Amino acid sequence: MYRTSHDQSTPIARSLAAELRAARLRKKWTQAQLAKKSRLPIRCIQRCESGGGSGEKLMAAFAATGLEIVPAPQPRQHARTIRYEKVWEPTWSTPHHITEAVLEAFERDKFCLDVASPDPPTVPCERFFTEETNGLAQTWQGDLVWGNPPYKPLKPWINKTVSEYKAGKLRCIVLLIPCKVETNGQRQLRDAGAITLVLHTRLKFGGRKGNPEFGSALYVLGATDDEIRRLRKSLPPHDQLVNLT
Ligand SMILES: C[S@@+](CC[C@H](N)C(=O)[O-])C[C@H]1O[C@@H](n2cnc3c(N)ncnc32)[C@H](O)[C@@H]1O
Repeated sequence: MYRTSHDQSTPIARSLAAELRAARLRKKWTQAQLAKKSRLPIRCIQRCESGGGSGEKLMAAFAATGLEIVPAPQPRQHARTIRYEKVWEPTWSTPHHITEAVLEAFERDKFCLDVASPDPPTVPCERFFTEETNGLAQTWQGDLVWGNPPYKPLKPWINKTVSEYKAGKLRCIVLLIPCKVETNGQRQLRDAGAITLVLHTRLKFGGRKGNPEFGSALYVLGATDDEIRRLRKSLPPHDQLVNLT
């Protein structure tokens, strides 16, 4: 087995030409005989034996003599690798700086309620619902409610947010969800009066192995103008917001 870079100007191309000629002579073939056996024109064999000819023709000529040439392996490319996680896991928790910024803006040290939480909770909250107690089947109430619900499916959580907000037992709810402002669900939140704060960078969720493949948005229903202004200020510069109102 011989290796070639397919570059006929290189020493290896010249040595392949010599190898081909030697292989032919070992078989005691003329160039015309090799041409016939490799189904190449004799001009091609002459070119191959003088260091010319394409890699494909050389391979055919060598194959006729019972030898094989294969392309040389290419050197490894050192590309920058960014790992994205295609699969969102319901266990991905909100980065602390996001919940801290919300609490700071609302001048609270805890949320009254986290509607979708592990047990123990990953965000500071007085009460929380888990998969077991099922936040979708409960009444949501309190002054400041937090939700970073399961995203698959997300629609039931959006419907529940809107209906619980309209029912009036909660004053304000902040939802952290993937930023898909064009969807019916997210339009439904805006129609109910939500402020959409699109986060500028992709969040690094707790419990994740790589970066998510999506951006995030905070949807805020029921906040005062002051609270929204403070929220915009309290998020760190790298999470600066685009406000869609
Ligand atoms: C994306 S995590 C967010 C956790 C936490 N709220 C936070 O912001 O870090 C969603 C959580 O909802 C929980 N969950 C799943 N189904 C639920 C349900 N039907 N009711 C309440 N919680 C649920 C999951 O177990 C998971 O802990």
